[in-house]
Amino acid sequence: REALARRVDDLLRTVPDFPSPGIQFRDIMPLLADAAAFAEVVAHLAQAARDEHGGIDLVAGMEARGFLLAAPVATTLGAGLVPVRKSGKLPGPVEQVSYALEYGEASVEVQPFTIRPGARVLVIDDVLATGGTAAATVDLLERCGAQVVGLSFLVELSALDGRSLLDGRSVDALLALG
Ligand code: PRP
Ligand code: MG
Repeated sequence: REALARRVDDLLRTVPDFPSPGIQFRDIMPLLADAAAFAEVVAHLAQAARDEHGGIDLVAGMEARGFLLAAPVATTLGAGLVPVRKSGKLPGPVEQVSYALEYGEASVEVQPFTIRPGARVLVIDDVLATGGTAAATVDLLERCGAQVVGLSFLVELSALDGRSLLDGRSVDALLALG
């Protein structure tokens, strides 16, 4: 795990002032382009979830970068995939949750008929920053009757303390950055 975390750290690109001034963007694209590292990360996320939570029915991934990890983790686990989309992209009926951004608000949507009541769901995204996206996703999935067993991220930006918005949840991140 430590070696893989270092590998991820080496392959991440940190881009200052993107997409806006003062933001340090953590770019996972070089990691995805490295066949061996990508496969190892997917295998790790799947195995860690299996060890921690046992059976998982569905993996939920957040648009857009969460999709890139959630889909291969789902097939590795033999689970289904629930894409959590930014609003207006999914044909209805949809369930929606809005959340605050630094400026303005955003909302996320899923199709509730794709989630069996009581389904054990693992949430996956690339980066945990303020936790707003993840907390809204948990809220959304639970409104649809899911049981969110845990959340897993490649990278956690510890200084932003996203975990505090996910209080009481099982949260895992392969790599913590300041
Ligand atoms: C980034 C990242 C997470 C989210 C984390 O997504 O991929 O989904 O921000 O931020 P938070 O913890 O403060 O909510 P972004 O909205 O930039 O879009 P993308 O995944 O579509 O590139
Ligand atoms: Mg995202």
